[in-house]
Amino acid sequence: MPIVVVVGAQWGDEGKGKVTDFLASQADVVARYQGGNNAGHTVVVDGTAYKLHLIPSGILYPNTLCIIGSGVVVDPVVLCREMKYLEDLGISTERLAVSSTAHVILPYHKVLDELEEADRLEKIGTTGRGIGPAYADKYARNGIRMRDLQSEESLRRALDVVLPQKNKLLQKLYDHPGFTVDQILDEFSPLGPTIRRLLSDSSLLVETAYRKGQRVLCEGAQGTLLDIDHGTYPFVTSSSPTAGGAAPGLGIGPTRISQVVGVVKAYTTRVGEGPFVTELRDEIGQAIRDRGKEYGTTTGRPRRCGWFDAVMARYSVRINGLTGVALTLLDVLDAFDTLKICTEYEYHGQPLSEFPTDLRVLEECRPVYRELPGWGRDTTNVKHWDDLPEAARAYLQAVAEEIDCPIQYVSVGPGREQTITLKAVF
Ligand code: IMP
Repeated sequence: MPIVVVVGAQWGDEGKGKVTDFLASQADVVARYQGGNNAGHTVVVDGTAYKLHLIPSGILYPNTLCIIGSGVVVDPVVLCREMKYLEDLGISTERLAVSSTAHVILPYHKVLDELEEADRLEKIGTTGRGIGPAYADKYARNGIRMRDLQSEESLRRALDVVLPQKNKLLQKLYDHPGFTVDQILDEFSPLGPTIRRLLSDSSLLVETAYRKGQRVLCEGAQGTLLDIDHGTYPFVTSSSPTAGGAAPGLGIGPTRISQVVGVVKAYTTRVGEGPFVTELRDEIGQAIRDRGKEYGTTTGRPRRCGWFDAVMARYSVRINGLTGVALTLLDVLDAFDTLKICTEYEYHGQPLSEFPTDLRVLEECRPVYRELPGWGRDTTNVKHWDDLPEAARAYLQAVAEEIDCPIQYVSVGPGREQTITLKAVF
């Protein structure tokens, strides 16, 4: 049975939550492989909106095993709060497992995230959730892992090793009082019993499911252009949201992955700083923002909006080896007379068909557009490809053609039933 990776193919917020939720209905296992609670997705089931940041959206199904893999950085306070939120809504978290080797976001990571961002001459616009500092500690081998949280004694031992260094940094560089071991223990110790029952080996769980012939969905957070290696560095997150990240992030071999579905919006958005070639700073951009409710789930920040950028999406097809695309928020475009797809860039008078890896070049690129007529009709109730307005089908075909990748799903609204399947993954 296939292991399918779902990955954001733009700058995050592509509607992966909705797509993952839809695909999870056919999956036995849903596993997150990177990022942390910098992500946020809203899933609407029977008119109720569920907002999740850390727990895979598969949790909304009664029989799906949900895994938080070792490549994720976990804020245990947020994890426990999210579990309680779900349980209060009558959703069981019995089938949730967290890799014991996943790294922990500690209070000092959040403080450092804020202080470092404030100190930076070129702001990244981080979510302030401590993501970057937690990954930095992981790679500097100063991290604390989920398994260290199983008892007060093990956490104290881990803190005794790393906290003096962190305090030195906070106090000497930032004039911050730092943290005591007891302060952190007071906050984290009560979470011990909950955490203990979640701890598991994500690699073994996924491999076991694979060998049993079960359907595994690997869920990436953020998006390709926020990838630490292949995104618009330094305006990126600190992990690998790209499909390749699923292998180390869960502990599976890359040969186990059979399909990669990229989630793209029918247009483009971005949160935070950095170049954005198709950005619309006019009333059309504002109309997209309003119609698409383009305000961050995690931070509430208004997202920057623009036309669909096929140059960027083609890059995403390449970097992720996409085998198909799920296109979301098509209905947001229902109201426009004319639509534009950026097919190539113009850089100092020269055409550029490949996404540049040099940010300075990207900053100076201008979009070259292909114009298509809008359809001016509500699509939110459409269930089948043939029932879409002809101009909407032409728009989707133009997207598929420009990015050279088939469209497998089209989403026309937040509800599960507002999904058109062209070719199912499972
Ligand atoms: P960080 O991940 O909090 O370090 O933020 C780094 C950059 O990634 C910032 O520009 C954030 O706005 C962006 N970012 C992080 N997570 C998401 C997400 O889930 N969606 C969109 N942008 C994100």
